[in-house]
Amino acid sequence: MKRKEILDMLQKARAEGYAIPHFNFSGFFELLAVMEVAAELKTPVFAASLPKVTKTYGPKVLRAAVDELAARTGARVYLHLDHTGSVELCKEAVNAGYDSVMIDASRCTLEENISAIKEVAEYAHSRGCAVEGEIGKIKSRGDEGDFQGEDCLVQVGDAVRLAEESGVDYLAAAIGTAHGFYKGKPQIDFERLGQVSAGVSVPLVLHGGTGIPEEDVKKCIKEGIAKVNVGTIIRYTYLDRLQEEIEKQGALTPPVDLIYPSVTDSVKEVVKGWIRTCMSEGKG
Ligand code: 13P
Repeated sequence: MKRKEILDMLQKARAEGYAIPHFNFSGFFELLAVMEVAAELKTPVFAASLPKVTKTYGPKVLRAAVDELAARTGARVYLHLDHTGSVELCKEAVNAGYDSVMIDASRCTLEENISAIKEVAEYAHSRGCAVEGEIGKIKSRGDEGDFQGEDCLVQVGDAVRLAEESGVDYLAAAIGTAHGFYKGKPQIDFERLGQVSAGVSVPLVLHGGTGIPEEDVKKCIKEGIAKVNVGTIIRYTYLDRLQEEIEKQGALTPPVDLIYPSVTDSVKEVVKGWIRTCMSEGKG
């Protein structure tokens, strides 16, 4: 439960022009890879579980795993619940000792979004947990037909109102990025990002990291992004390399011999690349 530490860390990153990387993990080996690299490159990181992953293992199991691995590797890692629309799941994660939770009510009305964040923030803050919210609609795979152009993008006035009224600690604002692999080059609205950044005092979060060119991520950091979320490329690398290893070594090989270290080494290279893009190496 490290809300104060997280807020100081993100404000420092924002002031000094770098970002804290956030990596989604689906299982133990990805988590281990992220933590080993975080320790090696001396960077703070968020290790994030999406709702399905959180519920499958149980938040207490993930809390215990991160604690044990942090003690073993020396990594500075903040455990984060990513993108849930469920206030109840947020509370469950807070009770299990998560450091940070994201309540994503971005598809509701502004008033409903503010009120969901408020409810989570009141519960989480008193227990030392930080809260992320979302404004505008950051698209995911499968959303393609649902929202068009400007409709998805954050309205600056809404972001300002939500930041002032909800108690949110850091904010994901829709600026044209999306979750999953991009079909072309992402069209990021840097101007809008700059306007949101100038209008709110809370740090901003870049979602949909996978596939954004390095120079664009750096430009976003310059415009006020303090946390960069990366997910798809972690699980894709893990599964793609695992498939290769199964083809090479056969499915009779014990899974740990297939995965560690050959598959996890590839995941670690991806994690290293993102830490360098975020310019957070040595900031831990
Ligand atoms: P990608 O899966 O596109 O990297 O996005 C991750 C993310 O934003 C998680 O919140």
